[in-house]
Amino acid sequence: MAPWTPVSGLSLPCLVLLLLLEIPGAGAQEFQLLQPQGAVSVSAGETLTLTCSVTGLAPVGPVKWFKGSGSGRQLVYTDKGSFPRVTPAVSGSDTDFTIRISDTRPEDAGIYRCVKFRKVSGGEEEFRSGAGTTVSVSASPSPPSVSGPPSRAEPGAPVTFTCTSGGFSPRDIAVTWLKNGAKFPAPQPRVLPAHESVSYNMSSTVGVTLTAGDARSQLTCQIAHSTLPAPLRATYNLSDALRVPPRLRVGTAPAVPVAPNESVTFTCLAEGFYPNNASLTWLENGNETNLGKPSPPAENPDGTYTLQSSLEVNATEQRNQSVFTCRVVHDSQPPVSASVMLRLSQPPAEPGKDPTSCDAAGQSLFSSPALWIGLFLEKVLTAAFLLFLFLRSKQ
Ligand SMILES: *[C@@H]1O[C@H](CO)[C@@H](O)[C@H](O)[C@H]1NC(C)=O
Ligand SMILES: *[C@@H]1O[C@H](CO)[C@@H](O)[C@H](O)[C@H]1NC(C)=O
Ligand SMILES: *[C@@H]1O[C@H](CO)[C@@H](O)[C@H](O)[C@H]1NC(C)=O
Ligand SMILES: *[C@@H]1O[C@H](CO)[C@@H](O)[C@H](O)[C@H]1NC(C)=O
Ligand SMILES: *[C@@H]1O[C@H](CO)[C@@H](O)[C@H](O)[C@H]1NC(C)=O
Ligand SMILES: *[C@@H]1O[C@H](CO)[C@@H](O)[C@H](O)[C@H]1NC(C)=O
Ligand SMILES: *[C@@H]1O[C@H](CO)[C@@H](O)[C@H](O)[C@H]1NC(C)=O
Repeated sequence: MAPWTPVSGLSLPCLVLLLLLEIPGAGAQEFQLLQPQGAVSVSAGETLTLTCSVTGLAPVGPVKWFKGSGSGRQLVYTDKGSFPRVTPAVSGSDTDFTIRISDTRPEDAGIYRCVKFRKVSGGEEEFRSGAGTTVSVSASPSPPSVSGPPSRAEPGAPVTFTCTSGGFSPRDIAVTWLKNGAKFPAPQPRVLPAHESVSYNMSSTVGVTLTAGDARSQLTCQIAHSTLPAPLRATYNLSDALRVPPRLRVGTAPAVPVAPNESVTFTCLAEGFYPNNASLTWLENGNETNLGKPSPPAENPDGTYTLQSSLEVNATEQRNQSVFTCRVVHDSQPPVSASVMLRLSQPPAEPGKDPTSCDAAGQSLFSSPALWIGLFLEKVLTAAFLLFLFLRSKQ
């Protein structure tokens, strides 16, 4: 290495460097535009700060901010004009062109460039452009909502429920369905649009087969997203989607056949229906009768309802073979009905030769107290005999 000759206390390379720097103008620094942020992430609603500064000798002309590139780029800020959400960080500075964008929205995502213009005759031309800052705006999903079927469905029918939410970014989102607090299997949610976007919508559909016990069940859609401190939930009461038709039972007291001129009470039970919207009418041989006495519907432990109505009639001879029908209209559905025939036994003129049918005979046998007393006595005697055997064996 050859020793350098010092000139005015400066080494030769240093001097060469100084000379090189001074070529563009006497003693002036070269113009530089600095946009140091490569990428910035912000949550929707927050304020975004985009840094830009210039050094060196600047030509006459403004500094402007643009979003996007090419002819479609959009003017974001310049010191002339109105940009409601944009303010300069340092107002009036001719070196610091940092801006602040308040109340950011998902659509603010994009590439921002700080551009220096130079005045030329008849206008201005682009002089220098910053490297660009990629801005991403993360946004929370809107509160989910769950929709059910357009009309009620009966137990056993498959029903679909859909949970929707939107306006979130990034696109990753987790959807969980719960039935009565327990995880319920569901396919992956659909996130739209499929291509990259400033924000996304999602919909998740789940199929549920309703049961009669679902009047008190709840279906919950729960969504988790990186912007949420805790999952968001929406609940659907399955009672809003459920229709359980009533089961009808009609009986008489006393059991048929009955003696002529006896007072007979017909009872109709419409059991286990949902929703609680049922009307019950009685018909005698197809003719409506308004003599029925309804009792108010009772709520069952599973949330369904039971309605009861009784009809008292005199078993006159004209009513022999009359058909009594209980008809229920539930939730605007076609009526369901159940009937019983009033049969009068033969006048007691020839007892024992009653040509009643087999089941009627069985019914009257089981409704006879003598039979029950007999059965009871038989059990008591057996017990006494066993006790006697037991005591004897101990002696
Ligand atoms: C997301 O949902 C909103 C509101 O329903 C709608 O305006 C928008 O077009 C949807 N976006 C997509 C990509 O489906
Ligand atoms: C669901 O039912 C509960 C009571 O069982 C009620 O408090 C709640 O408001 C209902 N929710 C909806 C969305 O109907
Ligand atoms: C039933 O009552 C009617 C009138 O009340 C009477 O004519 C008839 O004999 C009665 N029949 C019997 C079997 O008691
Ligand atoms: C039904 O009622 C009508 C009048 O309300 C009557 O004319 C008709 O005989 C009744 N039919 C029967 C089967 O009772
Ligand atoms: C049944 O007949 C008796 C008289 O035999 C009468 O007092 C009663 O009101 C009748 N009941 C009905 C429901 O028609
Ligand atoms: C009950 O059903 C009737 C029709 O059967 C309908 O007009 C009425 O609005 C329903 N009421 C309720 C509370 O759903
Ligand atoms: C009622 O009708 C049945 C069948 O027709 C008949 O056997 C019975 O004797 C009748 N009873 C009276 C009281 O008329």
